[in-house]
Amino acid sequence: MSKKKILYDGKAKTIFEGPTSDTVIQYFKDDATANNAEKHSIINGKGVLNNSISDYLMKKINEIGIPTHYIKKLNMREQLVRKVEIIPVEFVVRNIAAGSIVKRLGLKEGSVFSRPLIEHYLKKDELGDPLINEDHIVNFKWGTRDELDEMLEYGLRINDFLRGLFFGIGLKLVDFKIEFGRYYSEEGNSILLLADEISPDNCRLWDINTNKKMDKDLFRQELGGLKEAYQEVANRLGILPEKKKYSSTKPELVK
Ligand code: TMP
Repeated sequence: MSKKKILYDGKAKTIFEGPTSDTVIQYFKDDATANNAEKHSIINGKGVLNNSISDYLMKKINEIGIPTHYIKKLNMREQLVRKVEIIPVEFVVRNIAAGSIVKRLGLKEGSVFSRPLIEHYLKKDELGDPLINEDHIVNFKWGTRDELDEMLEYGLRINDFLRGLFFGIGLKLVDFKIEFGRYYSEEGNSILLLADEISPDNCRLWDINTNKKMDKDLFRQELGGLKEAYQEVANRLGILPEKKKYSSTKPELVK
């Protein structure tokens, strides 16, 4: 692990000071937590996989014109990113009913929404990250109306893009959580950037053919096989060079 000064030690990542005052280093840990850290395990290699998956997805999201904090991957577990002031709101985009919304609204897991559903949660562990609405965000000045509009637009564009990307490798993007931060330019202007990470820790991914879960629900629901599932996601994305890339066609029988 880096010997640099720790700025923040989170549940799945540690943030270290970066080489310049406007950058930080994100270190991906092997810790897996659920239920607001009531449940905790170490899953060897999870951090390495999430670093690679997030590196790949953030680069792609940058390429479609959505500004992100991502600068570059430094090594197996670390990324150099822009230092941002995190907006204390988690944006969840849902395409299919799963997780907390199923319990809260009595929905059937797996029912498909007619259009993507956006929810906001306050980032506050002490309160268990409660569900909030747009009025809370603007009223309590967690974000401005303009920032909120921009985050909503980015969230929907990221959803469209990632849904297609995952569909292409045989996975349904059920839902995901993203976070944004304010980056201050030298002139002092605030620029909204996608921050944090995008990995199977904060997405739900189901296999298109079998509906097998390939995300952190394997840990939350004690189903096992989390590392293998994350490896499979990385493999299908084509970012595990030592393994054969995923093929959507059936393998030929060996005679
Ligand atoms: P939920 O169904 O538990 O509300 O989760 C919705 C999505 O957000 C799911 O993909 C997991 C992700 N998520 C996080 O990444 N961090 C969190 O703290 C929570 C509650 C959810």
